[in-house]
Amino acid sequence: MPPSSHSPLRRPHPAAPATWPGHGTGGDAGHTSHEAQAGSVSCAGDFEHRQERLMAVIGFIGSGLVGSAVARRALAAGHQVVMSNSRGTRSLARLVREFGPAARAATPGEAATVADLVVLAIPYGKFPRLPRDELTGRIVLDACNYLPYRDGRDRAIDEGRTSTAEVLAQRLPYSTIVKGLNTIAAGQILADATPPGTPNRRAIPIAGDDIIAKQIVARFIDDLGFDAVDAGPLSGGRGPHFDPRTAWQPPLTAPALAAALT
Ligand SMILES: NC(=O)c1ccc[n+]([C@@H]2O[C@H](COP(=O)([O-])OP(=O)(O)OC[C@H]3O[C@@H](n4cnc5c(N)ncnc54)[C@H](OP(=O)(O)O)[C@@H]3O)[C@@H](O)[C@H]2O)c1
Repeated sequence: MPPSSHSPLRRPHPAAPATWPGHGTGGDAGHTSHEAQAGSVSCAGDFEHRQERLMAVIGFIGSGLVGSAVARRALAAGHQVVMSNSRGTRSLARLVREFGPAARAATPGEAATVADLVVLAIPYGKFPRLPRDELTGRIVLDACNYLPYRDGRDRAIDEGRTSTAEVLAQRLPYSTIVKGLNTIAAGQILADATPPGTPNRRAIPIAGDDIIAKQIVARFIDDLGFDAVDAGPLSGGRGPHFDPRTAWQPPLTAPALAAALT
């Protein structure tokens, strides 16, 4: 599988004009990185009228229930996927064979290096083992949750002083973190996906401090089969709409989720 010749989902260099193929310099071109959004703005509408499909290389760190479900949807949308886990490429041979020629296995570092967008789907307790150097300059879609019984106690999260995504942003200071996909069960990623414009399409909240990165992630989530709703800055990931204990049910449409976030 060759690397993508262009990188439609890669975070533009800060000095580059904030343009997207097919979107021109939209209303967000004037925003700078780390210009956090106040309030809730639905990203879904930005992508409603897109006409062309863009293919990208999606790197997965974590290829379990969530990683493989997202990869299946990404493949269905025409993306290439590079899967990685903690045990090495041989343990992923069957999965990538099943996925077909647009998939391959790699180390986490290589998956990060070749990716236009990285999907992180590992236990929160494994964050210290992430390939920080290879993730430099990458947009990382953080689908992870903190589960104390699995990950060990984290008092700062327990006390609401931080969130998994903010911890990740500290660990990966040269990556751009967007929180999302952590509040939908792996099986629902497959079962609830619908094409754009489907009535009552399920919406997924995303949070991040970088508007362009959030647009890119929203577009990817649209490709997966869901509307993305911007829930504001990364610190918004501390809120109930990202808490795995409170955010699961009922699934909301984009207008309902946007209303719930205000
Ligand atoms: N399951 C759900 O419905 C769901 C929904 C939303 C969010 N989440 C969250 O998403 C994350 C993943 O959940 P999951 O259910 O997919 O877990 P899972 O099925 O147990 O898969 C975890 C994956 O992470 C990999 N991994 C662990 N440490 C790693 C490391 N240092 N580098 C690279 N890969 C590593 C594992 O590889 P090995 O097997 O080789 O160790 C495995 O592929 C968790 O934070 C979870 O709380 C889960």
